[in-house]
Amino acid sequence: MPAFQTVRGMRDLIGEEAQTFTHIIANARKTAELYGFKEVITPHVEPLELLSAKSGEEIRQRMFIFEDLGGRKVALRPEFTASVARVTTTALRNEPKPLRLFSVGTVYRYDEPQKGRYREFWQSNFEIMGSAKPEADAEIILLTNNLMATLGLQGYAFKIGNIGVLRGILNQEGVDEKTQNAVLQQMDKKEYETALKLLESEKTRQMIEGLIKIKGKDWQDTVQQIASYVAGYEKAKTAADNLIETLKLVTESTNLTITVDAAFARGLEYYTGMIFEIYIPQLEIALGGGGRYDKLIEAFGGESTPAVGVAHGIDRIAIALQAQKTVIAAKGTKKVAVLAITEALKGEALKIAQQLRAAGVTVEFEIMGRKMAKALEDADKRKVDYAVIVGERELTEGAVMLKELVSRQQTTVLIKDLAARIKG
Ligand code: HAM
Repeated sequence: MPAFQTVRGMRDLIGEEAQTFTHIIANARKTAELYGFKEVITPHVEPLELLSAKSGEEIRQRMFIFEDLGGRKVALRPEFTASVARVTTTALRNEPKPLRLFSVGTVYRYDEPQKGRYREFWQSNFEIMGSAKPEADAEIILLTNNLMATLGLQGYAFKIGNIGVLRGILNQEGVDEKTQNAVLQQMDKKEYETALKLLESEKTRQMIEGLIKIKGKDWQDTVQQIASYVAGYEKAKTAADNLIETLKLVTESTNLTITVDAAFARGLEYYTGMIFEIYIPQLEIALGGGGRYDKLIEAFGGESTPAVGVAHGIDRIAIALQAQKTVIAAKGTKKVAVLAITEALKGEALKIAQQLRAAGVTVEFEIMGRKMAKALEDADKRKVDYAVIVGERELTEGAVMLKELVSRQQTTVLIKDLAARIKG
């Protein structure tokens, strides 16, 4: 029988890679704590109807869909936002707003596998429910900045826009919603020619074509350009003004690199306002993305609840850390192997191992029944710092032998002093 492989597009994370993921997740959780977010854990499998309701064609076509044994149409979650919105309209319905909700875990999309694009990948997800203010948008951008900065990423930049600019123009020009969605899908993929061809009116085409050209690193200049370009389109102008307000708030408090792109669109259909993505110079794919979606909760049967959020792509952040050769500081805890010299002392040795663990020392207890020399050789290979050798003679004096594996120095240490001695 051939050796089994993972399902295409899905990966095992082993050793250092697993550690990097854990490190990123720990930082995301720390960010959640600092910004006052409560964690929600939702199922991986959700009703198909919920996940496909407002996500858009792009995601709908890539979902892992199946029928469960009860004949229910279900799917693996392709993102967290729909699930968190569901929780908001049900269990948290009567909670005072705003809600700040954090989730982390795997999500599933049938994307074409390549570097940074997998079919199972990890996101850390933040949603603020119940505020229509630019302050909430600013918080989402700033917490993303906090995560990137604490991870030690360098030179990252935010690409920011407001989907209300494009939608405002298309609405006023009478473009129906289905065509709008198709146009925005193409714009998201930077297929501008295809996007423009979907528009019937020459005036609308020209208007959008002009908008596509407005982008720049000087955000103040770019947003002013957008605002004057769309002056005749009321909703688009409001969206441009809202973007100015958000960017002012963000930049007044923090130093960020921002590019503004007037024709910026994202793959998901539920966005109604500010949208953003984050990039580093070494990678062409986004490390995270999010935006404002004020109509989703209502569409799910809840009260009208404005919302804004972001998801960070943990797999891609791991690639970014590697591309920038960011060193992840080791925790600094010493690792210890506890070995009994004779079979009869196994119980005593395990007791000492438990005492050390209770004192916060990482212990690998000998579980292979190996001879001392073999066990020490193995501990050496696995970069264990100390071996605690439990022998009859020392035990009678309430002590053990402590061997430092690098220096090979061996001393007798009282069991009561052992943890403090190892921790240094
Ligand atoms: P999204 O842009 O579809 O947004 O995904 C967020 C991040 O997930 C991307 O920026 C990327 O880093 C990562 N990602 C997406 N697809 C893949 C893939 N195939 N392989 C690896 N990483 C990937 C959302 O999911 C929205 N729910 C974000 C949001 C929350 N908007 C409002 N609230």
